Amino acid sequence: MQTYRVAVIGLGGIANAHMHGWGALPNASVVAGADVIQSQLDKFTVKYPDVKNLYLDYQRMLAEERPDLVSVCTWPPLHEQMVVAAAEAGVKGIACEKPMANSLAECDRMLAACKANGVKLVVGHQRRYNLRYTEAKAALQAGKIGALIEVQTLCRGDLFTDATHSLDLMRFFVDDNPVDWLIGQVECKTGRSRFGHEVEDAALAFVSFKNGVRGIIQTGDVSPQPAYQRVTLTGSEGRIEIGGDGEEYWRIINGEQAGWVTHQVAQEAALNPFACYMRDLIRWIEDGGQHILAGEGGRATIEIINAVFESSHRRSRMRLPIYVNDNPLARMLANNEL
Ligand SMILES: NC(=O)c1ccc[n+]([C@@H]2O[C@H](COP(=O)([O-])OP(=O)(O)OC[C@H]3O[C@@H](n4cnc5c(N)ncnc54)[C@H](O)[C@@H]3O)[C@@H](O)[C@H]2O)c1
Repeated sequence: MQTYRVAVIGLGGIANAHMHGWGALPNASVVAGADVIQSQLDKFTVKYPDVKNLYLDYQRMLAEERPDLVSVCTWPPLHEQMVVAAAEAGVKGIACEKPMANSLAECDRMLAACKANGVKLVVGHQRRYNLRYTEAKAALQAGKIGALIEVQTLCRGDLFTDATHSLDLMRFFVDDNPVDWLIGQVECKTGRSRFGHEVEDAALAFVSFKNGVRGIIQTGDVSPQPAYQRVTLTGSEGRIEIGGDGEEYWRIINGEQAGWVTHQVAQEAALNPFACYMRDLIRWIEDGGQHILAGEGGRATIEIINAVFESSHRRSRMRLPIYVNDNPLARMLANNEL
């Protein structure tokens, strides 16, 4: 069995989840890490003393280590340059954190560089592997609530940072069916930014998928629940509610039994979601096929987010695909339109 040599770019918070993920796989070994801040390297080396080769310059790391796989764990405005550099350095696969990038133009350059170099790219929407969502999807696929009519997501965060997961889950429950059109509104009064990009304070959007399923997205304080990443699936014969973080359950109501039936989920007994998608990245490299977190899906989520912003800007519904290559929220803020 080949052992894949992994390098991690950006050694902050989420790099720990990547270390945990790669560390759970028998055929992967993290050999190097890079960060521009020396104190981050110092902290990392205390936590992960087995990773001997640390760099202040990720390009140098790519050139000297020649890794097989790279984790990109930096803020979204840096994802493009790092994914493109890794692809051009000859890696086989890249696990890039979500959101994929800030604009569709950046996503397209990332996808093009990976395609040109034969590199598999996945975007870290690891929640597709969380048991409460996968078990609920199995019930949906088994017809337990009839035909899917509506997917509603609640997320107290913002579209780029947090609801990128909600939107990816929405797409998961509609089997990645394309969006036909959407209409959205955002409020942006506080001028906040997170992870190096502007974020809205609240957003509300209605998404119509091509298969007729509709989605409702609520972020910020428009989202009525404090819970993070709750999802409700409404079907022709019943309903499924999936708990948010810290709520390891999903429950179903349909004609089979009186009232709600709750299923507790033992997530800790399962392989962690990061390890699952990293394992599948290696399988994808070795065996071909598909990956449920392939870069094209990350781009589809960015397209929905930016279409919500653009819909708010134009005060009209947006038909997809959209041909908007900048970040409409940043543009609106720069032009004092919000
Ligand atoms: N998948 C998830 O559930 C999840 C959860 C949290 C964060 N994230 C995402 O992960 C990404 C990083 O978030 P974080 O919380 O780890 O941020 P962080 O600020 O804790 O870490 C980012 C690190 O990147 C380093 N960095 C900056 N420029 C660099 C460069 N040129 N070369 C190398 N390193 C550089 C910083 O010094 C920092 O240590 C974001 O896109 C965020 O949205 C994903």
